Amino acid sequence: CGIVGYIGKKNTKEILLDGLKELEYRGYDSAGIAILSDGEFSSFKSVGKLVNLEEKTKDFVTDKFAVGIGHTRWATHGKPTELNAHPHVGHNSYVVHNGIIENYAELKKALLDEGVVFLSQTDTEVIVHQFEKNLQYADNAFEAFKKTISELKGAYAILLVTKNEDEKIFFAKNGSPMLVGINEENEKYFASSDTPLIGQCSEVNYFEDGDYGYVTKEAIVIYDKEGHTKKPHFTKLSTNKLSAQKDGYRFFMEKEIYEQSAVIADTLLGRLSENEVLFDELEDGFFDGINEIKLCACGTSYHSALAASYMFERYSQVKTSVEVASEFRYRSPIMSKDTLFIVISQSGETADTLETLKMAKKAGLKTLVICNVDNSSMVRIADTSILTRAGIEKGVASTKAFATQVTVFWMLSLHVARIRKSLDESEIEKQIKFLRNIPASVSVSDVMHERIKRLSKRYLHGHGFFFIGRDVFFPLALEGALKLKEISYLHAEGYPSGEMKHGPIALADPELFTIALLPQHMLYEKSKSNVEELSARDSTICAISPLEFDKADDFIQTKEHEHYMLEFFEMMVVVQLLSLEISIRLGNDVDMPRNLAKSVTVE
Ligand code: G6P
Repeated sequence: CGIVGYIGKKNTKEILLDGLKELEYRGYDSAGIAILSDGEFSSFKSVGKLVNLEEKTKDFVTDKFAVGIGHTRWATHGKPTELNAHPHVGHNSYVVHNGIIENYAELKKALLDEGVVFLSQTDTEVIVHQFEKNLQYADNAFEAFKKTISELKGAYAILLVTKNEDEKIFFAKNGSPMLVGINEENEKYFASSDTPLIGQCSEVNYFEDGDYGYVTKEAIVIYDKEGHTKKPHFTKLSTNKLSAQKDGYRFFMEKEIYEQSAVIADTLLGRLSENEVLFDELEDGFFDGINEIKLCACGTSYHSALAASYMFERYSQVKTSVEVASEFRYRSPIMSKDTLFIVISQSGETADTLETLKMAKKAGLKTLVICNVDNSSMVRIADTSILTRAGIEKGVASTKAFATQVTVFWMLSLHVARIRKSLDESEIEKQIKFLRNIPASVSVSDVMHERIKRLSKRYLHGHGFFFIGRDVFFPLALEGALKLKEISYLHAEGYPSGEMKHGPIALADPELFTIALLPQHMLYEKSKSNVEELSARDSTICAISPLEFDKADDFIQTKEHEHYMLEFFEMMVVVQLLSLEISIRLGNDVDMPRNLAKSVTVE
């Protein structure tokens, strides 16, 4: 979901809609705005993408001082309907909210018993009614708001506006991201991430968990979780709106696949010498006393963590385990202090991953985040962060973020290998040369793209896909299957090639599509036999390999590389493009696939 807010004299409607446009990829089931000017509210909501809301508000003009809030939604409680869209209304007030109010059922019951009428099925609506209830007994709106916040359990970023004090925006933050920005004209803008504020504000204050308060024309009043006032802590906001345009590509995802070469080059920049991988971010002795690495993430980032685990064990010889964040946080894990806890996240805001980071910190573990967004919640919380430098990623199906994460992990495993002397100097030097070849290995050739485009038409039906690979190509198979699922809505699974015979092979028939990763330098013969087993049972096979393979129905030939990780990167591009082209042929919205959101800030 995404939140915006504005207090000032400019065209409030445009500002809110422009802000929501920047956040839309984070949730696009429905959207809404509420604007309070001259003591009167105007509110609009619509289901589906933001264009519907733009259409609905096209004749509405705001040119006077106003306060306004807006929201773009990814449904959690209640279907994506207009009634469930934010802002939610009481008698005199409107609220927008990201997160989940865990005790909403309890609060709602008490309010219903008192005769309050609810319009939606959302958890959010209780906030506005609870506020209005408290307002009946409070001296002023802020007192009522403060009491309301103290009654909420769960995660939230909240903006509330009310007719009772019509020149204020009330805010509260706990667990979900939110910031406020100001410009030279002393106007205030709120948002749940900094992108909508770029170009509007010069400085921003990131709220911390437990912060609440209000803004007026003149001031930003903040209280911390203990109820003490605190001054805003402003940091400069970059003025550079990175990669916001499609530049002639059909979809952001396509553009981002093509950008991989450049962003990986950025990720490598300044981090490679002839015989060493350098991370300025890591202080000397960072790995002292570390005997184990634990990686934790969600979605695509989880797949890069899996790939990392192969490299940390193989090159750095450190015992490594990987966990899905939503599992880790509730399973009473054993956390020993000699473990380095690494979280991986494109956004730095994923609620489940963020929570595991907090758990690890609390348990006294050393923490590191591999992240694409500077100043994100995870970057601010972790002891140390390594930024992936992929630039803004808009496509909901992650591509370049994954590519840069794996790049960082390859580098990091060599960095640790050097410290622990687990690899020969000469081997490290050799691999550093290979690292420099990643940008070339992911650059998309017209011939390759054209081939995949043509071939994709044969893969639009069937009863399922298996992406298969061995070793680090197994996480890549998982990632390939996830890409396809996310944007084509076809069923796909990633599987270790050698494991197919233990069950899934029962599914083999011509309508089962096997996408086989057959790298030359990693268990080629073994993988080949596994594919042959499937081919013998008549599964339709699409093999991806630099070596000719005659047991396949389709063959996508990759280049010959000197190292299996370079094959990994080229094959990554192949599976990304294959998913892209299948999705386009099926007529889907590649960048905003149904039911998904770019950044999931609820658990
Ligand atoms: C969402 C996105 C996925 C992403 C996952 C983790 O589910 O749709 O593409 O991989 O969150 O996101 P993160 O920002 O933590 O990497």
